[in-house]
Amino acid sequence: MSSDLEELRRELDIVDVVSRFVPLERVGSNYRANCPFHPDRTPSFFVSPSKGIFKCFGCGVGGDAIKFYALYENLSYLEAARELARLYGKRFNLAGVKEEEKVRVALERVSDFYRESLLKNEEALEYLKARGVDGHTVKRFSVGYAPDSRKLAEFLKREGLLEEYLKTRNLVSLGSGNYRDLFLKRVVLPVRTPSGRTAGFSGRRLREDGSPKYVNSPESPYFKKSSLLFGLSETKDYAKEEGYALLVEGVFDVLKLFSAGVRNAAAPLGTALTEQQARVLAAYVKKVYLLFDGDEAGRKAVRRAVPLLLSAGLEVFVVRLPEGHDPDSFVTEYGVKALKGLISSAEELFSSLINGGRDSLEERIKLFREYLSYLPDDAKRIALAAEFQQKAKVPLETLLTPPKRRQASSSLPFKYKVLLKGLLSFRPKVRPEELELPKEVRELCYKALDGEEHELPEEVLEFNSPNLERMFYKVLEQLKKREFVREVEQ
Ligand code: GTP
Ligand code: MN
Repeated sequence: MSSDLEELRRELDIVDVVSRFVPLERVGSNYRANCPFHPDRTPSFFVSPSKGIFKCFGCGVGGDAIKFYALYENLSYLEAARELARLYGKRFNLAGVKEEEKVRVALERVSDFYRESLLKNEEALEYLKARGVDGHTVKRFSVGYAPDSRKLAEFLKREGLLEEYLKTRNLVSLGSGNYRDLFLKRVVLPVRTPSGRTAGFSGRRLREDGSPKYVNSPESPYFKKSSLLFGLSETKDYAKEEGYALLVEGVFDVLKLFSAGVRNAAAPLGTALTEQQARVLAAYVKKVYLLFDGDEAGRKAVRRAVPLLLSAGLEVFVVRLPEGHDPDSFVTEYGVKALKGLISSAEELFSSLINGGRDSLEERIKLFREYLSYLPDDAKRIALAAEFQQKAKVPLETLLTPPKRRQASSSLPFKYKVLLKGLLSFRPKVRPEELELPKEVRELCYKALDGEEHELPEEVLEFNSPNLERMFYKVLEQLKKREFVREVEQ
């Protein structure tokens, strides 16, 4: 079989490739030089032979040996791969490059395109500055800007990657050679896998314009929102070093904290934390501090996240932010020292329940019994229950039994199960706002239409019937709001 890109990448010696053009100086296990891609008086360009990558801390460019060659020789990534293969006598057959691999290269190249476009856009740069995101953070996270759909399409065409990139659905063909970039005119944040591969993007609008505040890449084999954590790729080494990670709700919280010198935060992409995300975190740290927003939604999110984190074997600390604040606004208002103070004085979840705090004893017992049931370690469960028993004078047995879960609130009426499962299965052109629905169900409808299965209740996912389609369209008819029905009939 012909060697594919991955094999070529493994076989290339990045130090050898870079040294063809740039004199490298050894520092420890890495090498450095003046950056060949921007005027650089201090050596800010580093090469890591063990990771097979280069990175300039001055201008932000980085990547593997092929990328270096492509930039230096002004070639597309695949052309560079072909030339390097020839140069080093390696086998490399473009036709043998897997489709999937090309999509991944396309994602990296688009990230480069956005990163370079940011430097030419004053408004976006101003926006980042106004939000307290510093230059170092912009480079480290490869923050970018999406200037022009047509230019992006042309760039991809030159790279020979347009068809492949369309698979991500981040760029949509409108026919007659026109395209629409999903992130158009937004500040774009690459969302990377922990190992640093670009999986997709999250784009924030620059100002209130009636469009959604954030747009994320659509679900695809390349972008699985439920297992990705924004920032983890950039912050996992700091988190490991500190021994804990901070979990925040917003992507800008991650950037703002990083700029302020708190470099171990990560965030889900606007959805509730999932089991996979908790497990991913547990691969890097033993402790997690929850810094969710100081509002009702934030507190609910904590209640939902804690069981997942405990089940993943993590020790949990809950930091309470003042009402109405998220970590970003808190740092703006009170400074990063105050935030560090909150973090260092946070008590571990079970000890805070045992030792008291602002909740009533009754409330603490309830939470304790629930959370305790998620601890995977039997011995630890018993030890904690014994400790609480001493303080609270509650029978050990009670503490060790989880409270009954409220079934009523989680059970959806039949017609909504049909509706949601139908939306998920058939993805018809339906606008939930035209249906007579309770607010919570409407929100679930949007999630179903976006294909976000993990956001839907178990009972919907499990629901099935051979008559689903028929029932679905019947329910849909029943739920159509009168005003819309009339509109159609007239
Ligand atoms: P800023 O206003 O930029 O500070 O955002 P935030 O991070 O404070 O936002 P918020 O607490 O409203 O939302 C938290 C996260 O939810 C964001 O980081 C996004 O990932 C996500 N989110 C917010 N608004 C939207 C939206 O309109 N669409 C989508 N898909 N996600 C959103
Ligand atoms: Mn915010």
